Order: sequence, then C-alpha cells, then structure tokens
Amino acid sequence: MPIDLYAAPGVYDLLFDDRTDDVRFYAGLARGHSRALEYGAGTGRITLPLARTGCSVLAVEREPAMLDGLRERLTHEPDSLRRRVATVLADATTLALDARFERIFFPFNGLAHLHTAEQQEAFFSRVRTHLRPGGLFAFDLWIPEPRLLQGDVLETGRFLDPSTREPVTLREEFSYDALSQVLTTRLTLTPVLEPEAAQRWTISQRQFFPEETRALLVAHGFDLRWRTTRWKLPTDLSQRHLDVEAPDERGAMIAYVCALR
Ligand SMILES: C[S@@+](CC[C@H](N)C(=O)[O-])C[C@H]1O[C@@H](n2cnc3c(N)ncnc32)[C@H](O)[C@@H]1O
Repeated sequence: MPIDLYAAPGVYDLLFDDRTDDVRFYAGLARGHSRALEYGAGTGRITLPLARTGCSVLAVEREPAMLDGLRERLTHEPDSLRRRVATVLADATTLALDARFERIFFPFNGLAHLHTAEQQEAFFSRVRTHLRPGGLFAFDLWIPEPRLLQGDVLETGRFLDPSTREPVTLREEFSYDALSQVLTTRLTLTPVLEPEAAQRWTISQRQFFPEETRALLVAHGFDLRWRTTRWKLPTDLSQRHLDVEAPDERGAMIAYVCALR
C-alpha cells in the first residue's frame, strides 16, 4: 500500500531538493522585507533561503513529518538564521494569526493540495486577512499536462540515491478524475540491484487550468499583477504583466504575484 509522499520527507528531498529557480524567485520577492508568511513550508527548501535574505519567516506546515524535516534542517543553521524562522504545525485553511505580513507565499504547487472549492475559499480568506495592505501574495502552479491527465506513465533512467549511494529508477503512474480535477500520482522507487525492495508513495493534486486560476483570484478579491512561466521577478508592479511564454517542456509552472483589490 503506497503511503503519502509527505510522510516521507527524505524521499521528498531526494526528488525536489535540486530545484533552484523557484527558490531565487521567492527569495527575490522577500528581499528587503521584514516579515513573510510561508504556507506549506515542507522541509524548508524555500524557507531557509527566504530567511537568508534577512526576512523573518513564519513557516506553516500541516504534515508533522515534513515539519520535522524543516526543524532538523534548522539545527544545522547559525543562531542568527534560526532566530528568523518560526514554525507552526497547522492547516493553512484554518490557522488564524494575530499578525499581518508584507509577503505571503504558497510555493511549489501548494494550492493544488486544496482539492475543494470550500478549502480554496477558506484559504483565500486567510490570505486576505493576513496580508498587509500593499503586501504581495505569490504562489505557483503546474500547467496541467494532457499526457498525464490521460494516464501516461513516466519512468526515469537509473540515477544514484544520495542516501544509499545505490542506483535506483523512478516510475510515476497517473490517474485523473475529471470531475474533481484531481490528479493522483503513484511513485515507485526501485533499487536496481534489489527490485523487490521497491518503495511506493502517492500524492493527489488538484489541477488548476490557467484561466481558472485567474478567475479564482478575481472571485476571491485579488488583483493579479504579475504572471510568469520563466520565474522572472516582477520589475514594475504598477504595470500589469500577465504574459506567459508558451511552455516548451514538461513540467512548466506559472508563478503568480497578486495584491489585494
Ligand atoms: C509540494 S510541497 C512544497 C514544500 C516546500 N514549500 C517546497 O517548496 O519544497 C507542499 C507542502 O504543502 C503542505 N500543505 C498542503 N496543504 C497544506 C495546508 N492546507 N496547510 C499547510 N500545509 C499544507 C504539504 O504538506 C507539503 O509539505
């Protein structure tokens, strides 16, 4: 029986720790600001670089194993950085804070974990409450891929698992529920020399189509100021920049930067 990917922070880090474009993007938005709220902080892949800009970060995460991973990472950091990161185990859709932030982030497809309209509404209402006037809310989402929605299977060549130094392969199987728009991915990591020791995880993510996301933001009181498929940082937020270059590769994401309306 596959387990939830977020119960396995070591595997999560193995799969995603080498992503850097989004880290630069969010760190760029945080630089020069004093307080950021990061929802879905996970094991801190983005949290720590945010704090390294000098910004204080409140990292909110609902999965205990992921938050443990972040707290473990923090133990390797200097006191000066640790002091700038506070962690909370909570659900972003319900957590009420007595604070407002200049920056609110829900990075790396975070919104896709809110499967229902009710969860999305609750989440956006939290963001509206916690965002300072003049502040910015930024997030990113995968562009749904027809191949995956049709149930494609992806398989990598062999690569080295850094934790075991053993060659492994990764297989991803997809199934899509067209009514709920939820894509479920089943991941299998197989050691090449010991295939019977294969491990399996699963993750279910709501698919947001780009025009649907724009409509959602309007409906929930946000003014979309910047949208990019290339992780370009905003240059002038007084001018709306909503161009996205056509994705030319698998796994293209759109990053969104919004203000309160
Ligand atoms: C794709 S991971 C991103 C983790 C980290 N921000 C990164 O970029 O590596 C999404 C994270 O959001 C968390 N998450 C999803 N829904 C959440 C919610 N409602 N409240 C808090 N955390 C949530 C998940 O548990 C997971 O750790």
